[in-house]
Amino acid sequence: MSHQSLSALTTYSKTAGANSGEKFSVSWKSPSNIALVKYWGKKENQIPLNPSLSMTLSQSYTLTRVTATPDREEKKLKVNADASHPFIPKMELFLQYIGKEVPVLKELSFNVETTNSFPHSTGIASSASGLSAFALCLLSIAEMVSGKNIDSGEFFNLASFVSRMGSGSACRSLYGGYSLWGKTDRVQGSSGLFAVPLAERVHPIFRTLHDAILVISSEPKSLPSTRGHSLMDHHPFAAARIDQAENNLSETLKALDSGDIERLISVTENEALTLHALIMSSKGGTVLLKPPTVNVILKIREARRKGMSVFFSLDAGPNVHLFYPEKSTPEVEQFIRNELVSSCENGLVIYDCCGTGPVLQEI
Ligand code: PMV
Repeated sequence: MSHQSLSALTTYSKTAGANSGEKFSVSWKSPSNIALVKYWGKKENQIPLNPSLSMTLSQSYTLTRVTATPDREEKKLKVNADASHPFIPKMELFLQYIGKEVPVLKELSFNVETTNSFPHSTGIASSASGLSAFALCLLSIAEMVSGKNIDSGEFFNLASFVSRMGSGSACRSLYGGYSLWGKTDRVQGSSGLFAVPLAERVHPIFRTLHDAILVISSEPKSLPSTRGHSLMDHHPFAAARIDQAENNLSETLKALDSGDIERLISVTENEALTLHALIMSSKGGTVLLKPPTVNVILKIREARRKGMSVFFSLDAGPNVHLFYPEKSTPEVEQFIRNELVSSCENGLVIYDCCGTGPVLQEI
């Protein structure tokens, strides 16, 4: 893979940066995302088994500041003053990759200050927001040390490529609205190496879709995603899953394009339940759903039968993402308060909606 603008940086970086003793600092706010078509299972080099499609969130984000200095410290990378933060191995991978093209980066020490707007283990992927925010900061610093700006489209494409190395789903967080990751004939320019935005292909009603995250349990994940993906390696239903995901992707694209909410409901819930069916039918038979998860799902379906425009998704955990169109907000919020909050841990519900993507922060 060669990104032209990154190699353009190489030329300049030979002369700029570390030796001058200059300090570089930048901050990005980057959102998490929720997949409607799920990525589950991967090939070598973080290439997904099937294309996935997600909605970028708005209120659930990571705010990250990276300060790079030429000081030579024993530990060159610290996150919130911790040299053994769980993200560090992934961040080192990003540094190695960008450092190949912009060698001066390897001479710098990185101090990362990062906070999430949402609590831990609540069904919102902090790896997606956290790693995409770090990738953005690192690329901005690469621009600073090289004295060369990367074209905006290429910048986010590159940030998506780098984010993918840390966590597959992170590569979809670089764009507002809806993103697609994985090669499919249905979307021109799609790739397993980075995500692409679906901006013009989305009907206005879905650009303001709401997502209330019903926190059933905030226990740490019992199935880390790396292990979860590896369960697809010898899964008896792997081939059928790949076909199903292609069909569900096609359905989702048609629904998003035409504003057909019934179609979106049917395919989104099918994807959520399939993810858990795959997990349960994997070796080890892990069950991530809790009794209140099932209660909440049944109540959502009951409310829909009575005419309310609500549907759900699940991540690889017990928490429920409840989707509804903007215009249904008052009645759905009342439904949540009256019927669902009692199933949530400490009554926790995180109200979010479709977002506009990462934002560079003022210095
Ligand atoms: O990006 P990872 O490796 O954390 O995997 C994410 C997997 C799911 O969240 C279950 C699905 C998805 O597409 O986001």
